[in-house]
Amino acid sequence: MWIYEKKLEHPVRVSCPDVKFAKMVISQYGGPDGELSASLRYINQRYSMPTDTAKALLTDIGTEEMAHMEMIAALVYKLVDGACPEDFKAAGWEGQWVQHDHGLFWTDVNGVPWTAKYIACLGDPIADLTEDMAAEQKARATYEHLIAATDDPLAKDTLRFLWQREVVHFQRFGEMLNEVQDWMANSKHMWMGHRPEK
Ligand SMILES: [Fe+2]
Repeated sequence: MWIYEKKLEHPVRVSCPDVKFAKMVISQYGGPDGELSASLRYINQRYSMPTDTAKALLTDIGTEEMAHMEMIAALVYKLVDGACPEDFKAAGWEGQWVQHDHGLFWTDVNGVPWTAKYIACLGDPIADLTEDMAAEQKARATYEHLIAATDDPLAKDTLRFLWQREVVHFQRFGEMLNEVQDWMANSKHMWMGHRPEK
């Protein structure tokens, strides 16, 4: 169960609308390393984690990624505020206008729709936590690309906050990977009851 708090995790502001930049930011909404991918990946993987602390971490970070998806939605929405069809055409994003107007849709920067192929769940905690660490690094790098692509200090502030959270998540997943590896090495229980003894 989730309880919705009617505020953003961090303020989302822009100095002025910028459709061209919105077209880039949408990648963190529905792209491979975006916030939808992150939230669904972690909230799904939590079920096959072997310890309560690992389940809790995946749930916590997956939930926070949903809040980040909300921030990206707010950012894109503000960047296209008041834009007319000509503005979308000038930004090379007329496909967005024709199919979605000012509505949001999960695509990457090239218009490729979100797919479950972006996420994985092997059911093996080592494989899954390692994937999560890589995912955080890819999200971190994408935010660095976006920060470099705008001169708007307010948009940069929003993106820097999200960048910082990816760095923290990477550290948390790294700590959990060590913890789970220790647990597996010391546990007398067979993993999930079906792992053959070596
Ligand atoms: Fe993250």
